[in-house]
Amino acid sequence: MHPNVQVIDHPLLQHKLTIVRRSDTTTDNFRRLVREIASMMAYEATRDLPVEQVSISTPVADCEAPMISGKKLCLVSILRAGNGMLDGMIDLLPGARVGHVGLYRDPHTLEAIEYYYKVPDDIEERLVIVVDPMLATGNSASAALSRLKEDGVSSLKFVCLLAAPEGLAALAQQHPDVPVTTGAIDSHLNDHGYIVPGLGDAGDRIFGTQ
Ligand code: URA
Repeated sequence: MHPNVQVIDHPLLQHKLTIVRRSDTTTDNFRRLVREIASMMAYEATRDLPVEQVSISTPVADCEAPMISGKKLCLVSILRAGNGMLDGMIDLLPGARVGHVGLYRDPHTLEAIEYYYKVPDDIEERLVIVVDPMLATGNSASAALSRLKEDGVSSLKFVCLLAAPEGLAALAQQHPDVPVTTGAIDSHLNDHGYIVPGLGDAGDRIFGTQ
């Protein structure tokens, strides 16, 4: 298992995740709930950000108060399903820059092939939070993390709604330095690479393409 996995057990998040899993949840509800869950995940995944005391004046007195310090943030979405989590995270992290990595799964080998990559020029100076709703085989996540490391990124986190044990094992082997935040660890992958019980194809459910 991965050495650094945080499963968010907050009842609100778990409740919303259960609705998202249900096959009778409509596209508009699915999209809205993924956005809400993503906000909560941004909240939890940034729990360890460093803060520094700054001097401020309230209407009543001068005082020292904490503000986030350290590296600036960049969210990187693994296309296309990662985009469903972006708005919810940006709601909470409005100053974050956003990058995109396009990877598709070869249907036979399930290997990740890159077709798009666009990130801020100063990406190596940022804390990068990579988002993809489903950590299945781990191939896409691993390829995206490797690509970002090639660009000099040294501070990385990975955030997903659901993780399969297989994906966590792959990340543990290839990127043990990258903490993972997830809503649940499901049972296994089926023969088609889908998470069981999972929620189906996250991209199709967010964009209503099936
Ligand atoms: N991608 C998905 O959208 N769903 C899965 O279950 C696995 C990968």
